[in-house]
Amino acid sequence: MDKFRIKGGKALRGTVAISGAKNSALPVMAAALLTAEKVTLHNIPKVRDLITMSKLLAFMHANVSVTEFPSSHYVIEAPKLNHAEAPYELVKTMRASVLTLGPLMARVGMARVSLPGGCAIGARPVDLHLKALEQMGAEIGTSHGYIEARALKGRLKGAHIVFEKITVTGTENILMAAALADGETVLENAAREPEVTDLVVMLRKMGAQIEGDGTPTLRIRGVEKLHGTEHTVIPDRIEAGTFLVAGAITAGDLTITHCAPEHLGAVRAKLEQAGAHVEIVNETTMRVRGAKKLVGADVATEEYPGFATDMQAQFMALATQAEGTSVITEKIFENRFLHASEMIRMGANISIDGHTAVVHGPAQLSGTTVQASDLRASAGLVLAGLVANGEMLIERVYHIDRGYERIVEKLRGVGADIERVHGA
Ligand code: EPU
Repeated sequence: MDKFRIKGGKALRGTVAISGAKNSALPVMAAALLTAEKVTLHNIPKVRDLITMSKLLAFMHANVSVTEFPSSHYVIEAPKLNHAEAPYELVKTMRASVLTLGPLMARVGMARVSLPGGCAIGARPVDLHLKALEQMGAEIGTSHGYIEARALKGRLKGAHIVFEKITVTGTENILMAAALADGETVLENAAREPEVTDLVVMLRKMGAQIEGDGTPTLRIRGVEKLHGTEHTVIPDRIEAGTFLVAGAITAGDLTITHCAPEHLGAVRAKLEQAGAHVEIVNETTMRVRGAKKLVGADVATEEYPGFATDMQAQFMALATQAEGTSVITEKIFENRFLHASEMIRMGANISIDGHTAVVHGPAQLSGTTVQASDLRASAGLVLAGLVANGEMLIERVYHIDRGYERIVEKLRGVGADIERVHGA
């Protein structure tokens, strides 16, 4: 298993180009199952989860070919889907495999998808996805750890669905299912994340009739057939946010290109509150400069456009370096503070009470061996390592490889002392 070795203390300076959004690429790849025609996707980041999604589509007998220019281009063709199954072997490595459920139900009227178990950050059930599909006329059972779903008369029908809780992949699954359903679906309390909107943009190009993207109410009029298309996924706002924090925490000066500043409003506001200087240079470029002194800022994670739970660990690393108290409240997942105990081992002053972490700073962190527990926790630990005294070793970095493209190379490019230690 690979590890990262980091020697902290370098101010990061220079330019970093942001890759395509993993959480956009996943649903748009799944959406390629909705048509027999060719779908070409650009700006797909080179990260492990997208390799897993390719394997999953191939398992269902779709053809997936990948060409690499500066970023990956995928061509997906699913002329026949005669294996509507997401097997446990793939689902256990990537919960987002459940994103194939909606498209399979829409295209072939049946699906067998392994139930994703809990994961490090919480139980993460998919009950809301299933309930909504049932409202659309699916008969759903579970057997031997698999969701077995079948549309009555072979085609889902439109329904009025109100999500009890906002769910990102749930919204995406129902959007895809409803695109080919018989009649109109109204989805209330839908997620408004930019990745949901990106999926809507792509589905529209395929011929879907959808209104309301970016609002909590989506209206989808099902069509008989969708066709092929070409689509470029949006920039990864979490990768961009992570680099903004990297610039701020190291008192550096980073220019972040190929990003979407309009998706980073909440992160920008919190960084400025903490004393960092964040500038929107143009439509795709931001610049961050660290302050001599960072100050504590409270953060509560929320659905978009609120502060993303996927940025909470990175912000906690920043809070350890800020003067005063930062109260960090995690409102989306029940167990997303595993990075805190590793930061405490590095010398951070953090106390946890349920969903709230209270961070007193600044603390001089010292390098030690730490364990990455999930994707974003790993990013938080990398950021902590960038300001720690001495050498830091992060184990289980396969978590970070799931969602950050060439993070070691990108950080080295702006002056970080970080290396990957292979298979140690
Ligand atoms: N929930 C339910 N029932 C459901 C679905 C969700 O109770 O049927 C709960 C979850 O347990 C959670 C909350 O609702 O407490 C929100 O979960 P959501 O469904 O929105 O999360 P997700 O769709 O599984 C996506 C991202 C996550 C990101 C969350 C929240 C993808 C592939 N994943 O997950 O990204 O944290 O939304 O923004 O889009 C990551 O990239 O590291 C990551 C974990």
